[in-house]
Amino acid sequence: MKADDFDLWMRQELHTVELALQRWVPLEAPAGLGQAMRYGVLDGGKRLRPLLVLAACEAVAGLKCAALRAAVAVELIHAYSLVHDDMPCMDNDVLRRGKPTVHVQHGEAQAMLAGDAMQALAFEVLTPDAAASASAGEPPLPDGLQARLCRLLSRAAGHAGMAGGQAIDLASVGRPLDEAALCDMHRRKTGALLQASVMMGAACGEPDDRALAGLSDYGAAIGLAFQVVDDILDCTQASETLGKTAGKDLDHNKPTYVSVLGLEPARAYADALRDEAQAALARSGLRDAARLSLLADRVVERHH
Ligand code: IPE
Ligand code: IPE
Ligand code: MG
Ligand code: MG
Ligand code: MG
Repeated sequence: MKADDFDLWMRQELHTVELALQRWVPLEAPAGLGQAMRYGVLDGGKRLRPLLVLAACEAVAGLKCAALRAAVAVELIHAYSLVHDDMPCMDNDVLRRGKPTVHVQHGEAQAMLAGDAMQALAFEVLTPDAAASASAGEPPLPDGLQARLCRLLSRAAGHAGMAGGQAIDLASVGRPLDEAALCDMHRRKTGALLQASVMMGAACGEPDDRALAGLSDYGAAIGLAFQVVDDILDCTQASETLGKTAGKDLDHNKPTYVSVLGLEPARAYADALRDEAQAALARSGLRDAARLSLLADRVVERHH
């Protein structure tokens, strides 16, 4: 696939995701909650997780309207995790996606509630009844698929995944972690949701066992690579490029791939994970996986 085709596909899909988020994240929630939710979700972010859902769905010739709901749901969970991650009780950050963080703009209690409401909304989006599907102009989403998507997302977001990883992250401040413990933390706090994005896209079709195993390994590899690169960018890029405060891992004494391995070995590890992801795609036997392959490159080559 040519880079131009990929960029065009990406622009189109990002536009579709943006419209869907605009439609589903409500303004009319009580007492300013809708504004806080929209502030945290809309207008910013690379939308990598939605792109992974849509590319994986395409690779298995899946149901696009289901994948779009999954893309919105996973971005809602991700945005909620960022809102809470930035709060004073966690990373205490004031800048996110180039803007003041939600708690700076809307207050701490509203930020907590906005995160809570985004998480709930994610599962509402995944479970439309017949009337909700009809009013969105979609065919009914089969109950079995709704359940599969909810299972994948809840597992990745909860104690076994993101929330568990965040708990380890906070408990590790100022403590040297060995590489195995660091890997476990990163796989949970960031990797799980990225892998779930791929598997939710795959769930929208009917991949065989070989394809499913390949996609799962691909998702695990890019999921870990993503946080390794996040650790690298934190200490190599400026805040203006990142849209969030640079250098905070060192300031906060967090164990990262850079603090544990060093910068160059961390870069080499991210490259190795990208190769692992590409090998997993090749093993999947899927013929239509070019976009997933290019997304793996972007995960490692990104500058923000
Ligand atoms: C940042 O994620 C937090 C991590 C999980 C490392 P992203 O880098 O995907 O953030 P946005 O969505 O583009 O703002
Ligand atoms: C956050 O990791 C992972 C989440 C689950 C939100 P970081 O704390 O490193 O993310 P940034 O650097 O603030 O985006
Ligand atoms: Mg954090
Ligand atoms: Mg943080
Ligand atoms: Mg970080």
